[in-house]
Amino acid sequence: MSLLDVDGIDVFYGPIQALRGVSLRVEEGEKVALVGANGAGKTTTLRAISGLLAPTAGTIRLGGAKIDGLPAFEVVKHGIAHLPEGRELFSSLPVVENLKLGYWAKRKEKAGLQRQLDRVMDHFPRLRERATQAAGTLSGGEQQMLGVARALMSSPKLLIVDELSLGLAPIVVAQLFDILEEVNREGTSVLLVEQFVHLALQHTARAYVLQKGEVVMAGSSADLVADPTLVASYLGETGAPAAPGEESAASVPAAAGAGAAGGGPGGGAKGRGRASGLRGRGRAAGSTSGSRPPSSGRH
Ligand SMILES: Nc1ncnc2c1ncn2[C@@H]1O[C@H](COP(=O)(O)OP(=O)(O)OP(=O)(O)O)[C@@H](O)[C@H]1O
Ligand SMILES: [Mg+2]
Repeated sequence: MSLLDVDGIDVFYGPIQALRGVSLRVEEGEKVALVGANGAGKTTTLRAISGLLAPTAGTIRLGGAKIDGLPAFEVVKHGIAHLPEGRELFSSLPVVENLKLGYWAKRKEKAGLQRQLDRVMDHFPRLRERATQAAGTLSGGEQQMLGVARALMSSPKLLIVDELSLGLAPIVVAQLFDILEEVNREGTSVLLVEQFVHLALQHTARAYVLQKGEVVMAGSSADLVADPTLVASYLGETGAPAAPGEESAASVPAAAGAGAAGGGPGGGAKGRGRASGLRGRGRAAGSTSGSRPPSSGRH
């Protein structure tokens, strides 16, 4: 039995169908990537998993228990924490209060709060130093750390992360991926959506490729990164795959976040990097793939 089992979900926004029969799974202790061009349905998939959107068809199970249709706060109790695209921090609240909000689903276990705060801040000494500082005054990278830390406050079995690298300098992104690695080693499974495909594939064992709301490829990340059709057909990303630890200009958020990283409190992140063209791929390129996926790679 998989930890997470998403089976054939459809999701609509009004009349628009954003997901068509999406299936994916994450095993206990696994790190899995979900990649795809802009608008492919990555965020929608994560929002459906965490209970923010209700699928009209299909099922979502966590540890065998059906969780689709449950409200988000119930899904958290089942063991899924979601770091949303753009973080959604409470910028006027201190760091420590933002962290406490991550414990909300467990608020009845009052005695465990301080212990959990200590545990989480052990991963993030920088947040400990800034515990009383308003979240909105943190740098972009620190805000993203706070987003990850807040998600970990609920001791999730599965952490789902939407665009960890958004608007951040490469060195900060590398630090954040190191933290995810650490968290994963301690037993938390990770499902991550990432704009920089090669980064996502480097840091995961398996991956799914979404295109226009459908899973069109699935397999080991190592196989996918070596597959020339992946980038050309489905992602529209240009440039050669980067060697581990040596990202190409096309695959790293480079200057995208340099100016914006310290950006204003809370939101605003969604636009960062996108308008700059540094994401290395785009909706137009993603839609060039009229061809069907190779049958061997079909999910
Ligand atoms: N609230 C909404 N109302 C209507 N349509 C939406 C809404 N949110 C997303 N969509 C549409 O659903 C599709 C999937 O969007 P989604 O945000 O899941 O894509 P994504 O893969 O996360 O893209 P990106 O890489 O740009 O973040 C897109 O066509 C988008 O326009
Ligand atoms: Mg998205």
